Amino acid sequence: MRFEIRKMLPEDVPAVYEIEKSCFESEAWPLSDFKELANDDSGIFAALCAVCEGAIIGYICGNCVMGELEIGSVAVKKEYRRMGAARALISALEEMFSPEKAFLEVRESNLAAQELYSSIGFFKVYVRKNYYSSPVENAIIMKKTYGRAAF
Ligand SMILES: CC(C)(COP(=O)(O)OP(=O)(O)OC[C@H]1O[C@@H](n2cnc3c(N)ncnc32)[C@H](O)[C@@H]1OP(=O)(O)O)[C@@H](O)C(=O)NCCC(=O)NCCS
Repeated sequence: MRFEIRKMLPEDVPAVYEIEKSCFESEAWPLSDFKELANDDSGIFAALCAVCEGAIIGYICGNCVMGELEIGSVAVKKEYRRMGAARALISALEEMFSPEKAFLEVRESNLAAQELYSSIGFFKVYVRKNYYSSPVENAIIMKKTYGRAAF
């Protein structure tokens, strides 16, 4: 299955938001956040999509300030998972910003996402107790360092 990674365009937002809602339900980011991201040209925020045969199959949002990349949201449609889309999205974000370090947070029960992040060099650095709601759950903070970054 072939897909391309490209910048999220304003017209992609409805499809992206459908995936966001199906993956994160009550904790989904508001539609307005995606609209802002798709129109942002600050060079700090980035929103990318994975596209297969013209359809949005996944997306990633992140921001990078002073070499520190924060991955905000990444999701792939159920029927397109385990095909490398999330890994390709993260890799594209890394190429875009060439960060020194990256951070993200993930639900403690989300082992699929933790496996994904571990497989590309992230490691667990901290547990933030009861960080998430609906349901209440700990957040695992994961970090990755690149090249010359100091721990
Ligand atoms: C987590 C998620 C983004 C992974 O997307 P994906 O496109 O299926 O991931 P990839 O195909 O790029 O997988 C890359 C690697 O991650 C790991 N991985 C991904 N899904 C996994 C799973 N269900 N179980 C175990 N390992 C998994 C594997 O190491 C995989 O490599 P492999 O397929 O060669 O074994 C996807 O499952 C998803 O959208 N989940 C719901 C939203 C979510 O939880 N987002 C993360 C919030 S922090």
